[in-house]
Amino acid sequence: MNPNDIKTIFESRFGDSAAAIHYAAPGRINLIGEHTDYNGGFVFPGAVTQGIHALILPTEGRTMRLYAADLDTYCEHNLDNAEGPKQNEFRYVYGVAREMMAHGVEVKGFDAVFYGDVPLGAGMSSSAALESCFAFAMNDLFGNNRIDSMTLAKIGQATEHKYIGVKCGIMDQFASVHGKKGCLMRLDCRSGEFEYFPWNPEGYRLVLVNSCVKHELVGSPYNDRRNSCERVAAEIGKTKAGVETLRDCTWDDLERVRAKVSEEDYRRARYVLGEVDRVLAVCDALNRGDYETVGQQMYATHEGLSRDYEVSCEEIDFLNDIAKQCGVTGSRIMGGGFGGCTINLVADNRYNDFITTVQREYKSKFGVDCKIIDVEIGDGARRV
Ligand code: GLA
Repeated sequence: MNPNDIKTIFESRFGDSAAAIHYAAPGRINLIGEHTDYNGGFVFPGAVTQGIHALILPTEGRTMRLYAADLDTYCEHNLDNAEGPKQNEFRYVYGVAREMMAHGVEVKGFDAVFYGDVPLGAGMSSSAALESCFAFAMNDLFGNNRIDSMTLAKIGQATEHKYIGVKCGIMDQFASVHGKKGCLMRLDCRSGEFEYFPWNPEGYRLVLVNSCVKHELVGSPYNDRRNSCERVAAEIGKTKAGVETLRDCTWDDLERVRAKVSEEDYRRARYVLGEVDRVLAVCDALNRGDYETVGQQMYATHEGLSRDYEVSCEEIDFLNDIAKQCGVTGSRIMGGGFGGCTINLVADNRYNDFITTVQREYKSKFGVDCKIIDVEIGDGARRV
C-alpha cells in the first residue's frame, strides 16, 4: 500500500482526509541479546524499513474510530470506557491512549486508518510498531511532544502488560521509537543507556528467513520464561544484597542456588547469563570488524535458545541447520521465539547459494514456502 491508498481508504470511511496526518513506526531486528531485556541485560536491535502506517485525524468528542486496513476490521470506542475493545489490533491503540492519558496527555477523539508492511507473527514486532506509531502520534497531536522518547517506549510496553497480557521487556518498543537509519543500537536495559552503532558490515549482509510458523506471544509460554528468571534471581537475592534481576548475578551465584531451583529454571538462567556475556563479546568483535566471531556468538545464542531456553521449534532449528551447512557466518532464532524468523549474517559470496538452498530444502521438508527478507536498517517512529 502507498500513502495515496491510505488516503483513499480514509476518505471512503471517514470523509475528507486533507487535515489527517500520516505517522509511521518500524518493526525491528535484533542482532543479539534475546530474552535479556526483562533480565536487565543488553540488547542489540535496529529498526527495519517495514512497519505500521497510520493516517490520523483528531475529532471533537471522546471516540476513537479505527479501521485496520489489512484485517478489514473496524471499531468505534469511547476513550473514557474503562473496558477496552475486544480485538487485539484495537486494544493496542486503546491501551496506548489510556496510558498517554495516565501520563497527563489530553487525548481527544480521532479517526484513523492503519496498515502494516511488517509481517505479522514473524517476530519482527509488528505489535510494538503499532504501539509506537500511535504513542508517537498522540504525543505529537495532543501532547505538544512533551513526553520523552523512552517514556513513549514504556507506554507501549505497559500496553502489552496491562491490555494484552504479555510481560515483555522494553527492547521492541525502544527500537521502534529510537531507530536510526543505518545504525544498530546497544541498549543497557538496566540503566536505560544506549549507544548507536553504525552498521556497515562490508562483505556481509543480514537476511531474515521467515519460517511462517506464526509466533504468538499472547498466551505463549513467554511469560513462563520470565517467571523462571525471576524465581532464580529471587533465590539468589535471599543471600546476596542488591539483586533485582539476573543481570546482577554471577555464574558463581547461579551455581550456589542450583540445588534450590528446578533444573528447568536453572537452565533458563544459565542461558540468560551466557547471553549477557555474548552481547558484550559481539560489541568487542564489532569494534574489531571481526564478523566471524559475531557469527559464532549468534550460533551459540541459537543453541542456548533452543536447548536451554526452549523457545525454538522444529522448523526454526531446521533453518538454523541449513544455514550452518551453507557456511552462513551466523544464524539464530530472532525475537520472542516459538516460530517467526531466523536472522542470518551471510557473507556476500554465500548469499545466493544460501537463499536458493534454504527455500528448496524448507519446502521439501515442510511443504511450506519460507520467506526471505533482506534487512535494511531504517528510522524510528516519525511523522511521514
Ligand atoms: C519479545 C519481547 C521483547 C524481548 C524478546 C526476546 O520480542 O517483546 O521484550 O523479550 O521477545 O528477546
